[in-house]
Amino acid sequence: MIRGYVFDAYGTLFDVHSVVEAGREITADPVLLSQTWRQKQLEYTWLRALMGRYEDFWAVTEAALRFTVRRLGLTASNAQLDRLMTAYLSLACFPEVPGALARLAGRPRAVLSNGAPAMLAAAVASARIGSSLEHVISVDEVKTYKPSPAVYALGPRHLGIPAGELLFVSSNAWDVAGAKAFGYRVAWCNRSSQPPEELGVQPDLIVTRLDELPA
Ligand code: LAC
Repeated sequence: MIRGYVFDAYGTLFDVHSVVEAGREITADPVLLSQTWRQKQLEYTWLRALMGRYEDFWAVTEAALRFTVRRLGLTASNAQLDRLMTAYLSLACFPEVPGALARLAGRPRAVLSNGAPAMLAAAVASARIGSSLEHVISVDEVKTYKPSPAVYALGPRHLGIPAGELLFVSSNAWDVAGAKAFGYRVAWCNRSSQPPEELGVQPDLIVTRLDELPA
């Protein structure tokens, strides 16, 4: 029985498409820029977690952007880099998200994200979903990153509900594996027909949009 919901943020609730749009200013291939930036951002979270050298997600995201610009042989002024970073603060949510969250009302609904607290607050406000979320939880509280069990433990701790009675929802297959390994019930929102990860754990449920989640 499901007593509460814990959502990943980027790619699950928030559409990072506006980051692609912002990239058009410095490259003819903004999709490659945004994909390389995202992958490097995640790599830096994993590397910093393993090194025991946490820096918040804003700093990691900016470092990943600077690396990506050099890696792709682009040039960008500080003002252009600022505009790309600022895109992270004004994200839209996917179209079905407000209705999907509203339908789950009555049980606590939480975000559990790598995002720094100010980044999450800005994205929740710009997507106008704050009234449908009882908790917005950042990894910053434990100064490490997903998929550390210390991060996933924040869900049950904040909601006061055991992981096995919470549905964790993410579009990131590696995050799905991390949450399942920790002990959540897990739904994978496979928005873009990705193959499952080979990490030895499977989601309980696969959906393609959040309005397919069981209420
Ligand atoms: C997050 C990343 C993994 O929001 O999307 O935690």
